[in-house]
Amino acid sequence: MIIGATKNAGAFASRSAKGRSLSQPASKSYLNRKSVHQIIAEHNAAEGDGLKRALGWASLMSLGVGGIIGAGIFVLTGTAAANYAGAGVMISFLLSGLACAFVALCYAELAALIPVAGSTYTYTYVTLGEIFAWIIGWNLVLEYAAGAATVAVGWAGYFNRVMQGLGIHVPPELTTAFFADPTIPGAHGAVHGLFNVPAAGIILLLTALLVRGTTESTVFNNIIVAIKVTVVLMVIVFGAAHIDQANWSPLIPENTGEFGVFGWSGVVRGASVVFFAYIGFDSVSTAAQEAHNPQRDVPIGIIGSLIVCTILYIAVAAVATGVVNYKELGVPDPMALVMDRTGVSWLAWAVKLGALAGLTTAILVLLYGQTRIFFAMAHDGLLPSIFARLHPEWRTPAVSQILVGVVVALAAGLLPLDILGEMVSIGTLAAFALVCMAVIHLRKMHPEISRPFRAPGIPWLPIAGIVSCFALMVALPLDTWLRLLIWTGIGIGIYLVYGVKHAKRAH
Ligand code: ALA
Repeated sequence: MIIGATKNAGAFASRSAKGRSLSQPASKSYLNRKSVHQIIAEHNAAEGDGLKRALGWASLMSLGVGGIIGAGIFVLTGTAAANYAGAGVMISFLLSGLACAFVALCYAELAALIPVAGSTYTYTYVTLGEIFAWIIGWNLVLEYAAGAATVAVGWAGYFNRVMQGLGIHVPPELTTAFFADPTIPGAHGAVHGLFNVPAAGIILLLTALLVRGTTESTVFNNIIVAIKVTVVLMVIVFGAAHIDQANWSPLIPENTGEFGVFGWSGVVRGASVVFFAYIGFDSVSTAAQEAHNPQRDVPIGIIGSLIVCTILYIAVAAVATGVVNYKELGVPDPMALVMDRTGVSWLAWAVKLGALAGLTTAILVLLYGQTRIFFAMAHDGLLPSIFARLHPEWRTPAVSQILVGVVVALAAGLLPLDILGEMVSIGTLAAFALVCMAVIHLRKMHPEISRPFRAPGIPWLPIAGIVSCFALMVALPLDTWLRLLIWTGIGIGIYLVYGVKHAKRAH
């Protein structure tokens, strides 16, 4: 859900005025922490600024489902089945959903306790300290900015299929990423790509909308959520009649000898790839302060939307691999392919258009989220103040939005879906593991604080969350780990050169 920048700006202004003395010179501690009491007090002081407790559990669940369903189910199901898990991608979805359930309960505790902008970044600032908060903020760039690029590549896959259907020929070099492996056939066979123009184009278009201050109403959100869920249900219901059980045999294709390429290791790697499909349940936690009864409704919203999506995802994976053999599913628009095989042409059209609408809002929310996290980090002095500057008339972080839009458009144009999706997954998994650690740490540090929602089974539940996030990370290819290390190294470099000197610390 898009909210006005003014509201955030108000909360931050109030935080800096009433809270920490932000203009203090930096102390030398890299492990400097924010005080949880102070953040809660600042939040309470800022709450009078107009946040209405208007959301019940059903609206929160709708918000969660709207944030969760996107390129993951519409695109990565095919990638994971074709490259790693075969029809066993159904089990991959189950494993990934379970890992998310552990994390989601931890999220619910922190979101009810520290319901402020910045989310994971702020939880980490409170519990583990500044440098960890920076690393998490930096990794959230992978969740949001790289996430937006990934969904845009998924969007472009469906867009190209619509163009083909209309008889409009777009040269394949202009719809394929420069770094896509030319030996792997895509929608147009094996192609040496130049730039994925539609993927970059949709990013720039949505950036322009966000710069002007787009406001999504709850009604609009709910309509898009209804369209997305209807499309997913259509795939399940109409596809089920065309399942050929031979496609499920064997359920898990034999391992090729390489770790993660089919066999059980492939199922686990598939789980780490489709983990992307679950990202977004954290959006429910950001609405904690707008819930009627956060103690009860936020956990219901988070867990409820996860359960709904897990069931839908497993059913879609079963139908998709049952209708089309997993070997053929590695295309940019696998759900349209599944509907094509039913032979009913309007179904394929409905799925393509529904997917386009659903993916568009997913990109919009991710692009929006990225600039708001930068906004929080810039207010803490960890990023240059330009990222916290608002356009005088439109009240949006216009410069930051444009910078983010251009960089994300370049990534979407140059990088293929698998690389982007795996980077998003590894970055988000790292952030989620830290959320679980933060819960354990905060229970020890501040047992006295009253917690509106208490995650059960402490410390075992967060430990299970950490172990499962780590297991999903381990299953990702070595290249993805190397990219994460390089990414983190760049982040630490920026922190040492800039953040450490400019951080506005409390005394
Ligand atoms: N879960 C979201 C998606 O699949 C990010 O697009």
